[in-house]
Amino acid sequence: MSIGAARAYTNIALIKYWGKQDEQLILPMNSSLSLTLDAFYTETSVRFTSELTADRFYLDGQLQNEKQTKKVSSFLDLIRHKYDVPQFAEITSNNFVPTAAGLASSASGLAALAGACSAALDLSLSPTELSMLARRGSGSACRSIFGGFSEWQKGDSDTTSYAVQIPSDSWEQELAMLFILVDDAQKDVSSRDGMKRTVETSVFYEGWLTAVADDLVSAKQAIATKDFTLLGETAESNALRMHATTLGATPPFTYWSPDSLKAMNLVRACRLEGIPCYFTMDAGPNVKVLVQKKDADRLTARFAEEFNENQLVLAHAGPGIEILDSERSLTYD
Ligand code: ADP
Ligand code: DP6
Repeated sequence: MSIGAARAYTNIALIKYWGKQDEQLILPMNSSLSLTLDAFYTETSVRFTSELTADRFYLDGQLQNEKQTKKVSSFLDLIRHKYDVPQFAEITSNNFVPTAAGLASSASGLAALAGACSAALDLSLSPTELSMLARRGSGSACRSIFGGFSEWQKGDSDTTSYAVQIPSDSWEQELAMLFILVDDAQKDVSSRDGMKRTVETSVFYEGWLTAVADDLVSAKQAIATKDFTLLGETAESNALRMHATTLGATPPFTYWSPDSLKAMNLVRACRLEGIPCYFTMDAGPNVKVLVQKKDADRLTARFAEEFNENQLVLAHAGPGIEILDSERSLTYD
């Protein structure tokens, strides 16, 4: 019997991953760039044991049914096959983040699962290898192996597609992200289904691929020169471009709700009032606002005039994955 545990933090993409070139290997159509955050995370432990005849997955204390266990079991099948492990596993996970609400639970959840499996089986993986492994669970999870800014380099095969940390001279410590929790219910169209539908049917998808390559160059330049305006403007445009592709799909769909628009408009108003800040959104209605730490309190106070305080969560740059052990804790950052 072998046990392992890990904690991984969510990351929010400033340049989005949207579309796969290979669904089996989870190879993306475009490279992406994210900021790992401290406010939301997942802790997972995995115990491989010959006592079980199927995987058993507890999420936030609830035993999950077969459908809810599918993503986890598919990932464990891959581990079993790759590392010749015959046993099923008991997985216990706690999300300190709403599940499937566009707040990147799949990133922290699958990164923590990959880390816990690696620890349980004593795989001694390098951070790069762990990133490749986490990617097979959920694409965005490969970026949660690293703290601060990370870039998922798309690659074109299983061993060339992984995230790397972006050197930043700790600039991310000067930044913050305000989460506007418009709705934390589970969404109708998962990121996986949404991006598939978009790649297959959106008349705007070619435009996305052209734009995202330039956006990535600008974002990396912004980080290298600590240019907050360039990073913010690039991230906001990139998010709008991603969301535009969903309207061009068949059938068309959107992750926006009236309150998402309210939050986006408030971000624009704050800019006019002299608070530099920029929004991004993922596959759900919640809005995340990039701001410099020195302006974070003013921004939060302004949002508190229009939203309930319990809808607002301020996050800062977070660390890389932590492999938890009863006696020690290893960090990849
Ligand atoms: P999100 O916006 O939260 O990332 P997704 O639809 O992309 O939403 O992914 C949510 C899915 O990720 C869940 O339905 C579940 O399959 C998986 N997931 C979330 N949290 C965990 C966890 N802690 N452990 C394993 N899988 C998880
Ligand atoms: C909009 O990583 O959840 O958040 O690889 O199918 O598991 P799968 O998708 P997932 O998609 C994340 C999409 C996004 C943008 C991003 O995080 O880059």
